[in-house]
Amino acid sequence: MTTLGLLGAMDEEIALLLADMESKETLLHSGITFTKGILYGKEVVVCKSGVGKVNAAVTTQVLIDRFEVSAILFTGVAGAADPELNIGDIVISSSCQQHDMDVTALGFPKGVIPFQEVSDFPADRTLVKLAEAACGRICKDHKFIVGRVLSGDQFVADHAVVKSLNDTLGGACVEMEGAAVAQVSHLNNVPYVVLRSMSDKADGTANVNFAEFTVEASRRSYEILRDILEHW
Ligand code: ADE
Repeated sequence: MTTLGLLGAMDEEIALLLADMESKETLLHSGITFTKGILYGKEVVVCKSGVGKVNAAVTTQVLIDRFEVSAILFTGVAGAADPELNIGDIVISSSCQQHDMDVTALGFPKGVIPFQEVSDFPADRTLVKLAEAACGRICKDHKFIVGRVLSGDQFVADHAVVKSLNDTLGGACVEMEGAAVAQVSHLNNVPYVVLRSMSDKADGTANVNFAEFTVEASRRSYEILRDILEHW
């Protein structure tokens, strides 16, 4: 049986998955708690990476090396960068890129990792299709789009900043882990997809909205992941 790696950055983002799991066994690696078990009939490892790209990269590599996962699905919340998106709407990653990779002083375009072929890491097309199908079944009151996820080690809470990220890098949403998960998955040839429900619009009200809507948005992302696994 293949094992799926399911991760979120914060407790809110994985709490409902952990609650649904059976035959749970917890293991600690690199300071991260990994919970192995059965979820909707599938063998899974669920974990909380912690916030930011380094935490996400370490967690992803452990999922691949120690648990030999065959695919990685990230669930969580994000700030909307596409002006058409509202709180509660969903972004399924077409790809993920680091928006804070900035070597423009040496002539590299913003977001480009120097001397590397890929900087915008494509998500697995089959996983994207599965996520789209799940959203089609369960997103009744909210939009879902497939778009580029932008990641950086910063909580974006400024309209001018998020507008510029959308204008220059074409980001659908901003968050803090996806591109690290994507890059490590790419390096190891493991398929991945990131699912993000919008908790805020990454503008001047983002801190207030994030606090208010994170639990609800996390639930929406969880429901999509659950539906994907139920139809796997
Ligand atoms: N996650 C949720 N909202 C975010 C934001 N505005 N910036 C970065 N990460 C986020």
